[in-house]
Amino acid sequence: MQVIGIETSCDETAAAVVRRNADGTGEIVSNVVLSQIEEHSAFGGVVPEIAARAHVESLDRIIAAALDDASVTLADIDWIAATAGPGLIGGLLVGLTTAKALSWASGKPLLAVNHLEGHALTARLTDAIAFPYLLLLVSGGHTQLVAVHGVGDYRRLGTTIDDAAGEAFDKTAKLLGLGYPGGSKVETHAQAGDEKRFALPRPLKGRAGADFSFAGLKTAVRLAAQDASPLSDQDVNDLAASFQRAAIDCIADRTKNALKMSAGTRFTALVAAGGVAANKAIGETLAKIAADNGLPLVMPPLALCGDNAAMIAWAGAERLALDPAPRDMTEPARARWPLDSLTKPGAAA
Ligand code: KG4
Ligand code: ZN
Repeated sequence: MQVIGIETSCDETAAAVVRRNADGTGEIVSNVVLSQIEEHSAFGGVVPEIAARAHVESLDRIIAAALDDASVTLADIDWIAATAGPGLIGGLLVGLTTAKALSWASGKPLLAVNHLEGHALTARLTDAIAFPYLLLLVSGGHTQLVAVHGVGDYRRLGTTIDDAAGEAFDKTAKLLGLGYPGGSKVETHAQAGDEKRFALPRPLKGRAGADFSFAGLKTAVRLAAQDASPLSDQDVNDLAASFQRAAIDCIADRTKNALKMSAGTRFTALVAAGGVAANKAIGETLAKIAADNGLPLVMPPLALCGDNAAMIAWAGAERLALDPAPRDMTEPARARWPLDSLTKPGAAA
């Protein structure tokens, strides 16, 4: 089965062709991602209206490039899979409406895909792992711990009660004058800093459950920066290092709790996904937690950790393999669409 995926939920305009083989393995045939970082960097964050317009301007070209790179035409495609949510509604409307138009024009059926399901199932495309596994999704928009029991069978163990992990990195970077998006810049500066210099809080650490909170940490960084200002280069490095350690301590504590909460489940792996998982110090900490629990740590390659359309095509293919019934064209775009509200393929919604 060959599926073309379309992703426009945030600030990446993406299209990809993915093949799912009869044995359940998958292959990425093409994967085109156009980042809008330059359009948004002047504003220090994603501006929804600018994102939607940028998707309109480039999506048709990106879809053509994905087909071209795969050396196929729409005639060779079995299904069109497009992100219908959650995300910024303007961008979602652009992607989903374009997908519907393509579907009408080509006669190829359309499947509306949940963006979070794309992140949740990527590890099966890259590493062919079996269910169930524990997913830590840490990106600019999402921070969740989810027990992935099957396609459409997600049990959310924890989520953020305020900011996403990536947002905390980005806001810290902005405050320290490191630019946008700041996660990787915080990491670089942290490598030259003293993580013990500033005593910062670890929100929710030691508490029951697997929820996250980063707002208090962000405020503490701001206050520490105000106290230490004007900031020398070393101050910036030390603040970045102290923040990063605090954030990692929180992520580690919550992940350990999620594993404890699932003591009765035989997970096959700990899976980390999302842009923040690119952070090497986080990767090292997660590798240790996984090893302590006798699990492999599976981290999809960087290009598939961040937003992309291969994961959307793949999530579509996983669903369609279990339920190939035709779909109607009335699926709406939706800003909110929690992962654990999804149902198993073929089950009545
Ligand atoms: O998954 P992603 O590419 O996009 C979505 O948010 O969906 O994640 C982007 C986020 C940004 O907040 C960025 O600052 C953060 O991931 N990030 C990092 C690193 N690289 C990217 N955070 C910490 N350390 C990094 N090395
Ligand atoms: Zn995402």
